[in-house]
Amino acid sequence: MTEQMLYHGADYNPDQWLGHPDILARDLALMRQAHINVVTLGIFAWPTLEPTEGDYQLDWMAQVIDNLYQNGVQVALCTPSGARPAWLAQAYPEVRRVDANRVRQLFGMRQNHCYTSPIYRQKVRLLNQQLARRFGSHPGVILWHISNEFGGECHCPLCQAAFRGWLRQKYTTLDAVNAAWNSKFWGHDYTDWEQIESPAPHGENALHGLKLDWRRFVSHQTLDFYKWETAAIREIVPQAKFTTNMMYHFDGLDYFKFAKEMDIACWDSYPTWHKPGEPEAETALDTALMHDLMYSIKHKPFWLMESTPSTTNWQPISKVKKPGMQLLSSLQAVAHGADAVLYFQWRQSRGAFEKFHGAVVGHDGRADNRVFVETAAVGRALESLQAVSGSKKPQQAAIVLDWENKWAMEEAQGPRNAGLGYWQELQRHYNGLARAGITVDFVNEDSDLAGYKLVVAPMLYLLREDFAATLRAFVAQGGTLVVTYWSGVVNETDLCWLGDTPHHLTDLLGLRRTEIDALYDGETRRCTAVGAEMPPAATGSILCEVAALAGATPLMQYAEDFYKGSPAVTRHPFGAGKAYYLATRFEEGFYTTFYEKICAGLFPPAWPTPLPQGVHATRRAGYIFLQNFTTQPATVGALTIPPYGTQLLEAETHTSLCQCSFAPADAGVQGASGQVN
Ligand code: GLA
Ligand code: ZN
Repeated sequence: MTEQMLYHGADYNPDQWLGHPDILARDLALMRQAHINVVTLGIFAWPTLEPTEGDYQLDWMAQVIDNLYQNGVQVALCTPSGARPAWLAQAYPEVRRVDANRVRQLFGMRQNHCYTSPIYRQKVRLLNQQLARRFGSHPGVILWHISNEFGGECHCPLCQAAFRGWLRQKYTTLDAVNAAWNSKFWGHDYTDWEQIESPAPHGENALHGLKLDWRRFVSHQTLDFYKWETAAIREIVPQAKFTTNMMYHFDGLDYFKFAKEMDIACWDSYPTWHKPGEPEAETALDTALMHDLMYSIKHKPFWLMESTPSTTNWQPISKVKKPGMQLLSSLQAVAHGADAVLYFQWRQSRGAFEKFHGAVVGHDGRADNRVFVETAAVGRALESLQAVSGSKKPQQAAIVLDWENKWAMEEAQGPRNAGLGYWQELQRHYNGLARAGITVDFVNEDSDLAGYKLVVAPMLYLLREDFAATLRAFVAQGGTLVVTYWSGVVNETDLCWLGDTPHHLTDLLGLRRTEIDALYDGETRRCTAVGAEMPPAATGSILCEVAALAGATPLMQYAEDFYKGSPAVTRHPFGAGKAYYLATRFEEGFYTTFYEKICAGLFPPAWPTPLPQGVHATRRAGYIFLQNFTTQPATVGALTIPPYGTQLLEAETHTSLCQCSFAPADAGVQGASGQVN
């Protein structure tokens, strides 16, 4: 694979069209016309590759790969383990997943296998090795796309045994398990390993340590399955490169751990653009957070593995992308570090679940409709931006996003079982920083913080002692830290820290938590500024933490309820640095002002002067992307950025390098060619 290359492509499922050689031939011509240079191939093609057990039929795929290669299209070859053939489910029931209620699923749907099942693993291994032997050294195969959107959990007897094995390895003795989980509560002590079962609606749900360990195990076992898949291929193709597609706000798997086993991170992005009441610039920030997360987990360019060129078909309302949005959203991914923009899917399926999902080539098969023409425009734009590929992003601020913390917090049975909104909390800090033009990375409790000047730790409920030490060292050496309410509450097995909290951070923050009040949805508490550093007023919501000061300077305070007068925002020096504390969740606008103020002088923002509403600046190595997420032209200095337009500039001199936009009128430009035969 060429590291210095921007890829443009799509999921290609020719197995759905093998009976139509004319369509397969037309695909090649259309791909050229759409400036496609890569496809992910055969993601659900298992029954076509192995129609009956052990009968491998790879010739059709060989032909497809050769044809693509001859037409300048490279291949990310998929392992089709995301959906299993009916014969496999019929012959070997153990491959079918058992749900938490202990009912085994029937055949159907996808991504619902037992990742422990030796038979499933063996069948996947045999097929992967067939693919590796036949195609592993093909010059057109540049990447292996392992399975599809891993997720979910299996509670079958095989998984129960594996869970117990994992626990034995972690804890060695049952005494250690019982202590870690505080099993004495309700007298749930375990006296035999066989008594331990995964959480169930009709079984154990009270031991938070068990629930947390189960989620760790599920993530571990899924990753183990992924590694099993890659190992099968690597044995035959040592130089093979691997990825697997990740999902928006997906809770089930620790993506930081996955990233270590992947050569390239990638994700599937389906934002709800054009939602009434949500300006596109807001949707853009929500998407940008995920792009930056994908960049962060490997600290290098990622792939946008799936996006729709027009519409999805699974959202409550699946709107089409308006003219120009496909180009804008594709270049947004590139601005945030993507080296590839791919679509789901190349050719629209004729029947079944996704027959109305957008695709580059629709049921009409034409190349003169808006979707196809806009896709080709993205292809041309990517060709003109090749120099950006491979480039890195500056290291400035980091937000702690830790999956184990999230798992523990959500199971905790605490002040707000109605929902804590961890992603929403992260998003507010992210938006505040992004609006201030600061580049944001995400880190977890295993990360090294060297190189960052600002670290934000929102709702760090599960705080490991070693990470608390990392945070302390970071501040002591001059870093700026922001800690929020509901931090430093429990240890790594969800046992409450004893003594003053936030555990291990009270001297750093110059305060201790005394109480935490939960608010109903829509309920708020007014806060007012103390001094002139913060906005004059703000509103707290969700959780209001009450703290006793021990050296910190209050910058804002609560203005109502029995905690009126107690601190809502504080600052405290520690070593060469300082730590801020936010006692509640403020409204969105607070974070913009807060981060503007505390970041002044810390780093150069991506753009030196305030930008018009809806225009975002993003920095990638020597480039600045200015993107207009509004339907009106935007003026930035001497530049006019068209609606949904992107302006690329040289970072130091602000010299304009190119402008990419797609006006509705452009939709007709390419139209003359019509259907390509
Ligand atoms: C997911 C899947 C694809 C397809 C798309 C539709 O991302 O990976 O196979 O179903 O959704 O949006
Ligand atoms: Zn199982």
